[in-house]
Amino acid sequence: MSRIAHAGHPIKSPLDDDSVRRLLERGAPRGDERVLDLGCGGGEWLLRALTTRPHLHAEGVDISEDALAQAREAANRLGVEERLVLHRQEAAGFTSAQPFDLVLSVGAAHAFGGLLPTLVAARKHLAPGGRVLIGDGLWEREPSQEAIEMLGDFSDLATTVDRVVADGWTPVDGHVSTRRELDDYEWACWGTLAAWALDHPADPDSADVLATATTRRSEWLRVYRDSWGFVSLVLRRTSD
Ligand SMILES: C[S@@+](CC[C@H](N)C(=O)[O-])C[C@H]1O[C@@H](n2cnc3c(N)ncnc32)[C@H](O)[C@@H]1O
Repeated sequence: MSRIAHAGHPIKSPLDDDSVRRLLERGAPRGDERVLDLGCGGGEWLLRALTTRPHLHAEGVDISEDALAQAREAANRLGVEERLVLHRQEAAGFTSAQPFDLVLSVGAAHAFGGLLPTLVAARKHLAPGGRVLIGDGLWEREPSQEAIEMLGDFSDLATTVDRVVADGWTPVDGHVSTRRELDDYEWACWGTLAAWALDHPADPDSADVLATATTRRSEWLRVYRDSWGFVSLVLRRTSD
């Protein structure tokens, strides 16, 4: 279902193509960086970095074999497979002999237990002077208890950035997902899933898929659309 739901929005986070391009430009300004993505999913961030920068090398870590298979297929199709290494394992347990100039982790902070633990993990992999590109949820308005139970607890934008700064990082760029990016992402997921069910009425999973799309769309609209947002930050260590 995840593969179908994200077919129309391969970046599995609420960011449009321009935002992704701009954040990658800030994260990998030279073009020959070594890039690591912790929780890379289908590898879409890495694939975009690799196809636009012929001297860049990338590694991705994820626990989903299906997502990694998709990344592998796309890398072969795009001719960047020789510069991409994929690891199927827990992101928190990943180790590498060589550090990275850019460590990405977008929409995967739950794999580490939150934003600050994700930064602790990213720092272990960072070369001196390197950058981290991290994306995580935030509250744009006071959430309901139901929203907190459904999505986990976040902070508002200013508090989120304050915590990151207090942890020894300086934001050198950032992007707060717009209402349109947030809505486009949810419509892409639940709309694509619903459309698949309508297009495959004879499939034994069709009714379940339609029910899931209906439930998830309703949860979004009723429980968290008004309060949840998403911020992406490009970070450098304030002092190494
Ligand atoms: C919302 S997706 C984001 C994917 C990608 N970063 C993007 O923005 O397109 C979260 C990803 O984290 C992965 N993930 C969840 N827990 C993980 C863990 N413990 N270790 C590694 N990956 C994990 C999931 O399999 C999924 O691919």
